[in-house]
Amino acid sequence: MVIQYKMKPFLKWAGGKFKIIDRIQQALPHGKRLIEPFSGSGAVFLNVDFEEYLIADMNADLICLYKQVQAYGEDFVNYASTLFTSDNNTEAAYYELRMEFNTCADHARKSALFVYLNRHCFNGLCRYNAKGAFNVPFGRYARPVFPKIEMLDFHEKSQRVIFEVADFRAVMEKADIGSVVYCDPPYTPLSTTANFSSYTKDGFTADDQQALADCAKKLIARGIPVVISNHDTVLTQSLYAEARIISFDVQRFISGNTGKRNKASELIAIYA
Ligand SMILES: C[S@@+](CC[C@H](N)C(=O)[O-])C[C@H]1O[C@@H](n2cnc3c(N)ncnc32)[C@H](O)[C@@H]1O
Repeated sequence: MVIQYKMKPFLKWAGGKFKIIDRIQQALPHGKRLIEPFSGSGAVFLNVDFEEYLIADMNADLICLYKQVQAYGEDFVNYASTLFTSDNNTEAAYYELRMEFNTCADHARKSALFVYLNRHCFNGLCRYNAKGAFNVPFGRYARPVFPKIEMLDFHEKSQRVIFEVADFRAVMEKADIGSVVYCDPPYTPLSTTANFSSYTKDGFTADDQQALADCAKKLIARGIPVVISNHDTVLTQSLYAEARIISFDVQRFISGNTGKRNKASELIAIYA
């Protein structure tokens, strides 16, 4: 599946697939409904053309924000933009707004704060402590840009989307004939010393990686295609041994390697 336009996600997201969207478009089989259990920034669903979409993630703050953009469009976008002032681009203001985010129960306010944190925090990371509090430090950017156009584009594209907060196992169970499932789980570590990234307070374990491969095998046995992205390692080659595997190199910021760009080998496993 190849389409001409490219829609940039409005959030910075570790492991975002915007840079390799062409490869993913080419790997995805045709179908009626795209299911994405690991939505992240939404880079993939924004850049493919299906009749229907089920877009899910375990991160409840992320999906709450997407529902606000979907339902309230420009009104929400204008509201969120009011947090992007020079007064709010200081260390003191950042930590105050971060604390407000961690105690906020109002969906619109919390979602606007999520956009603010994403653009003002260190490297656009999304990390929570064991109690579920967002704990990324201040990012020190000269002038964080408010992603107005990207949010309005997202609003338009999201009108045919069902958003859900759920674990990938529950989402994959909803696949039926006509569904195509694209999975972009948190990466497996490149080495035994590297940590799993933590977009949610629970992290993503080696057992989760195995469970995902098992879910993919069950779906293809029912005639439902599944495509999975991950690092290209000995572990992932064996996890996805039954799939057709495409390997390639990408330039990425590797966390823990402050600001350094490294080459990492990635793969796309296609069960079709
Ligand atoms: C590599 S990112 C996805 C990036 C996305 N494809 C993009 O282009 O931005 C992995 C995502 O998986 C989500 N996640 C982590 N554990 C999960 C789980 N058990 N079930 C569903 N989603 C999970 C994280 O919140 C994160 O957004």
